[in-house]
Amino acid sequence: MTATPADLVITPRNREFGRGQIHQRWWHGGDPVPTAFYNALSSTFPLGEAFFIQSVRHFKKDAPPALAAQIGDFVRQEGVHSREHVEFNRHVTEAGFDLSPIEARLKERIKEQRELGPHVSLAVTACLEHLTAILAHVWLRDDRHFRDAPEDIRQLWTWHAIEEVEHKAVAYDTFLYTTAKLPAWKRYLFRSRVMLRVTARFSKARIADMRDLFAQDGIDTAATWRKTAAYLWAKPGLLRQILPMWLAFFRPGFHPWSHDDRALIAKAEAQLSPLLAAA
Ligand SMILES: [Fe+2]
Ligand SMILES: [Fe+2]
Repeated sequence: MTATPADLVITPRNREFGRGQIHQRWWHGGDPVPTAFYNALSSTFPLGEAFFIQSVRHFKKDAPPALAAQIGDFVRQEGVHSREHVEFNRHVTEAGFDLSPIEARLKERIKEQRELGPHVSLAVTACLEHLTAILAHVWLRDDRHFRDAPEDIRQLWTWHAIEEVEHKAVAYDTFLYTTAKLPAWKRYLFRSRVMLRVTARFSKARIADMRDLFAQDGIDTAATWRKTAAYLWAKPGLLRQILPMWLAFFRPGFHPWSHDDRALIAKAEAQLSPLLAAA
């Protein structure tokens, strides 16, 4: 059932970013809007990725060897992502933002999620991994998203995006494996319903998170939200750019590797490697 390329290599790249760097409060080109968007996103990564790891690793012992090996690489990649986003979030805190309300809400959400059991957690993870992978794809494809960020931050998000695309199907393949006995239409309904619910909750939560950060900047105003909508939907329009790939999830035969974007990873990595080597 999987469309994961047989020769796919998932490479955990244990790298450090931003040590000893000090950034301005609005590190994204001096603009509070993209700064808040990415700060909100990053503040969810350490707890979120720990949830992904736990959800997928739960099924590792029953998985066939090739999938179990991919789960191992997935866990290693996400573990290092968490560590680097803890560091990034420390910079955000040092710049004067309080991320604790965002983290407290997420902790509560994850606790509720876990109570629904390992199969739902895995389906939720597969959906969130698709959201992450399509964001990552667009970040790698369109350099406008991090062009105005300091170099070490651009490198962090590019590195993270490369690995998210690389392991984009691990949770999904685990989901396919664990639901192999379900009739196809039941699996389709299950994953589609979870994706709709996950997307709605994810969007609502990130809006609440950005509202917190805008309030801390004293700019939680209609004008700021108009700028946010323009930033996310028009220019550069991250959400507009991911929309076709989000919709693709609802195709009955969807698989994350239906679209092979390994060339994009290779290109981004080639551009990133000399920078990392020089750091
Ligand atoms: Fe990650
Ligand atoms: Fe991931």
